[in-house]
Amino acid sequence: VYENLLEPIALGPTQIANRVFNPPHGTTLGRSGLVTEDFIAYHEARARGGVGLIILEGMCFHPSFDFEEAYLYAGSDKIIPGITKLSKACKAHNTSVFGQLFHAGRAVRYSHDGSKPLIYSASDIPDDRYRVVPIPMPNEMVWELIDSYAKAAERLVEAGLAGVEILASMGYLIAQFLNPTTNQREDEFGGTFENRLRFLRETIAQTRKAIDTSKTLGVRITLDEKTDTGMEAGEVIKICKALDDDNHLDYFSVISGSSSSPEGWIHVFPPMAVPHAFVADDAAQLKKVVSKPVLVAGRINQPQTASEILTSNKADMIGMARALITDPNFVNKVAANRSDDIRACIGCNQACVGHRLTHHAISCIQNPKTGRERIFGSVEKARSKKAVFIIGGGPAGLKAAVIGAQRGHEVVLYEQQAKLGGQVNLAETLPGRAEFGGVTTNLTHELERSSVQVHLNSTASTETIKEFGPDTILVATGAVPRLPEVEVNGPDIFHAWAVIQ
Ligand SMILES: Cc1cc2nc3c(=O)[nH]c(=O)nc-3n(C[C@H](O)[C@H](O)[C@H](O)COP(=O)(O)O)c2cc1C
Ligand code: SF4
Repeated sequence: VYENLLEPIALGPTQIANRVFNPPHGTTLGRSGLVTEDFIAYHEARARGGVGLIILEGMCFHPSFDFEEAYLYAGSDKIIPGITKLSKACKAHNTSVFGQLFHAGRAVRYSHDGSKPLIYSASDIPDDRYRVVPIPMPNEMVWELIDSYAKAAERLVEAGLAGVEILASMGYLIAQFLNPTTNQREDEFGGTFENRLRFLRETIAQTRKAIDTSKTLGVRITLDEKTDTGMEAGEVIKICKALDDDNHLDYFSVISGSSSSPEGWIHVFPPMAVPHAFVADDAAQLKKVVSKPVLVAGRINQPQTASEILTSNKADMIGMARALITDPNFVNKVAANRSDDIRACIGCNQACVGHRLTHHAISCIQNPKTGRERIFGSVEKARSKKAVFIIGGGPAGLKAAVIGAQRGHEVVLYEQQAKLGGQVNLAETLPGRAEFGGVTTNLTHELERSSVQVHLNSTASTETIKEFGPDTILVATGAVPRLPEVEVNGPDIFHAWAVIQ
């Protein structure tokens, strides 16, 4: 057991049950800016799985950044009933819930109806991703926005949340004010260090006043934006030191990357080519200068990695966004000394980030229950036991076999190759994609703990099928490459499999 992951910690007035938190992540499970039953079921599944703290996805709260189809909207009291229900559902599992307030500033491409929205930033400097020229936010709008942060925070705690986090990270609006390359204002919010910091500082001070000291207030901040025009880590540390001295914050949550460039963006959703725990050293740097707990996230998907960060005193809490998308029961498995049973996230970004960025509800290629908790949440015993014959030991066949066995069926699986995994075995051989093999490792582990009979190097035939006498045959032989029937003169044509092999 990784005991240190299970120790409680206080974040200001909130006592958190253990050291694992679920960082904010957009789920696209809300509707029209409001909480839905699917959204509650998604978070309750993670709370039931033992996570100490959930920080809900970044919410909009002001008309200058309001995309209700993609984000929850905390700028109106309509959000209150849903948040209240969610917070009660999670509290029942001893999980604390905070909200995050988010404004993207210039990092917006278009509205969901395809029209070009008005986009505001500190100054009229476009980023290197969307290249949209923003409108410099009028001075009175900045003050109005500060007030809106405070009002939205007040609303969220009134709804029952134990705390609020201000997103000042990843090159979004507040970071655009902090950074001299994106802030060329001449009013009290631009120019000197103090002026550029004023927006964040005032937001924190007003928010603290609004939620008083009985609730937790934190900030999410990036030390290394992984972008040429990003902030210097030294300057961000100076900012954090100043905020720490103001004494309104209860924690600092450190992350990496930026929305402002393709290189920075890769590190916001770090894929498998990015090393595990790649932000831990940034957190350690910050921890040396601030007095409050430091939280960290970023490609932490195994209990040993998480535990080691705590042991080496690099951070006080460990964030797992995708690790809990893949395995909501991560913490309970650690507590039950079943860490080997954890289904580790592989950083493929397919069904989580991929769905989110195409405006679909998030899920996971390794855990299709994610985002569909109300449909597939619990695996129930089948009313009548069947004999199930599965042909093909790729991901689909393996998953079907495990679920079939869990439901009480008698399952056999035939795989013609010597190794299970199907096309995953090809994908993992590509440069930087070795972790793809984790899909097979995880599924094989689940299979080994089930009653499924596996036949490797075995082609299913009429005889083998008749001999077993199945009620159901499931063909999971996958796809094969197709060469189009066109005449090509010149170079030979190879399909992708042949090239990889
Ligand atoms: C689908 C998705 C949506 C995200 N949305 C947010 C967000 O709203 N606010 C935020 O601060 N971070 C957001 N993130 C970043 C995560 O909080 C986290 O920093 C990142 O996923 C790296 O951590 P991980 O390796 O544990 O997933 C999002 C991540 C994902 C995968
Ligand atoms: S889809 Fe891939 S990256 Fe996303 S949570 Fe699942 S395994 Fe992790």
